[in-house]
Amino acid sequence: MTDRYAVFGNPLSHTKSPFIHAAFAAQFGEDMTYEAIEAPVDGFEAAVRAFFAAGGKGLNVTVPFKVAAEAMADEALEAANICGASNCLKFENGRIIADNFDGVGLVRDIEVNFGVELKGKRMLFAGAGGATRGALGPFLEAGVAEIWIANRTIDKAEAVAQLLGPRGSIHACGYNAIDRGFDVVLNATSASLLGECPPVPSIAFEGTTLAYEMVYGKGKTPFLRLAEANGADQIADGVGMLVEQAALAFAWWRGKRPDTAPVIEALTIPLQ
Ligand code: ATR
Repeated sequence: MTDRYAVFGNPLSHTKSPFIHAAFAAQFGEDMTYEAIEAPVDGFEAAVRAFFAAGGKGLNVTVPFKVAAEAMADEALEAANICGASNCLKFENGRIIADNFDGVGLVRDIEVNFGVELKGKRMLFAGAGGATRGALGPFLEAGVAEIWIANRTIDKAEAVAQLLGPRGSIHACGYNAIDRGFDVVLNATSASLLGECPPVPSIAFEGTTLAYEMVYGKGKTPFLRLAEANGADQIADGVGMLVEQAALAFAWWRGKRPDTAPVIEALTIPLQ
């Protein structure tokens, strides 16, 4: 029988997940379907339970349901547990299991696809929302020396830093307190969705190997322009993160690790 998978979100008009998983399935000749299901904002849990009751095997979760996905799971694995949010569910032996591959996908994109080793590096995250929270654990596991989280609302950055503080060197600050350069600078704010730029000072890009925009498909965002103008060696958007997290989900569900390179290439929108 054909196995059913899906992505749940609202809105979902721009989702690339069905394309990505169809490409992965084709690599192995897997007998599976992958749909986009726009669940009602107040009806996520019921829609997920109906999907699994009808034989669904697994699903991805996107905005605004990631927190609800973690909360409804019978078991939340470590990455989902730490950030209190899940981007991936699996239905196994009558139980719903939650994981979160956003952070690991991002780390893989930086280390494998961009060839930037993170061990011993100094990182700056702009923003202290879900995107930052989900990424911190995998960066610590990759052996970074130091993580700074800058946010307009410093309290929020401090709360996120405290969440993982015991595991490594994580600091919170306001943008105007940044007075040194970082090896990797990430824009984890939602500013680019509105064509805005977080107020990262120029000095943050001194010696920067990679400036990374976690949003995908917005071209050269104001953040990437700022990074480029201040001498960052490489700039990137989140296409690789998107495909890598999907590959990790696929491997979790199907036990097979797809080749991400051709899918990243197909989805890449040149940064110009
Ligand atoms: P989520 O948890 O879904 O990621 P969020 O908690 O609203 O959403 O987080 C969005 C992040 O983008 C926050 O860090 C927000 O900064 P504040 O906490 O200070 O509001 C940040 N953000 C959004 N627009 C921004 C802008 N124009 N400049 C700087 N930061 C911005």
